[in-house]
Amino acid sequence: MLFDIKPKEDPKDLFDREEELQKLKNGINYPVSLLLGLRRSGKSSLVKVLMKEEDAIWIYLDLRKYETKTFITYKDVIIELEKALNRFPQRIKKLLEGIKGINVAGLEIKLNWGKQKVEISEIFDKLSEISEKEDKKVIIVFDESQELRKLKGYNLLNPLAYAYDNLKIRFLFTGSEIGMVYRFLKIKDPNSPLFGRAMTEITIHPFTKEKAIEFLKKGFEEVKINLDEKLLEDVYNNIGGIPGWLTYYGFNYIQEKDHEEALNKTIELAVSLIKKEFRNFLKGREEAKERYYTIMGVCKKGCRWSESKRAIEAKEGVRIDDKKLTELLQNLIDASFLIKENEIYRPADILIEKAF
Ligand SMILES: Nc1ncnc2c1ncn2[C@@H]1O[C@H](COP(=O)(O)OP(=O)(O)OP(=O)(O)O)[C@@H](O)[C@H]1O
Ligand SMILES: [Mg+2]
Repeated sequence: MLFDIKPKEDPKDLFDREEELQKLKNGINYPVSLLLGLRRSGKSSLVKVLMKEEDAIWIYLDLRKYETKTFITYKDVIIELEKALNRFPQRIKKLLEGIKGINVAGLEIKLNWGKQKVEISEIFDKLSEISEKEDKKVIIVFDESQELRKLKGYNLLNPLAYAYDNLKIRFLFTGSEIGMVYRFLKIKDPNSPLFGRAMTEITIHPFTKEKAIEFLKKGFEEVKINLDEKLLEDVYNNIGGIPGWLTYYGFNYIQEKDHEEALNKTIELAVSLIKKEFRNFLKGREEAKERYYTIMGVCKKGCRWSESKRAIEAKEGVRIDDKKLTELLQNLIDASFLIKENEIYRPADILIEKAF
């Protein structure tokens, strides 16, 4: 059902992502693929459908829950990995035996992170062996991978680069804070282990107006509701083309049977979620909090660099350093709150505009 608010898993519920899906299918023939797109654009759905369609040994790590944290540790990563490995069938679990720091004695796999800790590169080695033995791809998905940039005390890029160069396993990184994914991978940093490695990049965009209306029409057809085209247009004009919010509108309409009410509920939820995400973004950046709010305020309808500078200076009554301001703007872009087009900074989406 199209208006189901969970990520889609069934290929027939995935609307209009054939091209992206095909690119992903090609991507997983190579070591690393990136799947990038704004929040609620349908990344997890795309991955889950791919997992249904591609017979491989999948290891899916959901890092979303770390978005409220200012840092994560080796233990957090190991725990997520442990959870994912425990979803393997028993027969495959058994194949992980013999790695230091892994206990496969019972039905549960246990990974050590303290004394005798398991080395991620050794797990990768073993998975690569399993891939050859089983003649199947092993694909590790890091969903919301920008969270990994907060990993302290351990450089995950080392085992990743080792796997990239030597092993058969594949990686898929998704991210809604697009610039932050790049900051984590450091592909352009000559001192980084992954420097210069080629990666397949797939970006998923919001639906166009036409597609959004088609999506809504199809969703309402499924539940035998007939909605005037004018109202569907009004939905797009108010909430834009992000599939997650269109889905939520449809879901609300089915409950409320009233356009205005469904629309308001959707906007309300989206705005509160965006505000929460913005507060997460501010964690560890408290000293510039007021400046970030000022920028989002002046840039909600689009602004130039100089306008944001003037706004902050008017508020603080002192000069702000040019470099500092550029850095603040860049952080907002990297976290996908703002985009920059022809020297104009604006919200990445109409609902972000409504949140400020
Ligand atoms: N192409 C699509 N066809 C049908 N439904 C979709 C599609 N893309 C997304 N959705 C719906 O939109 C919502 C958000 O999708 P999903 O969770 O896959 O996005 P996401 O990019 O992973 O979001 P988040 O940033 O919250 O992790 C879900 O309800 C999902 O069912
Ligand atoms: Mg997701």
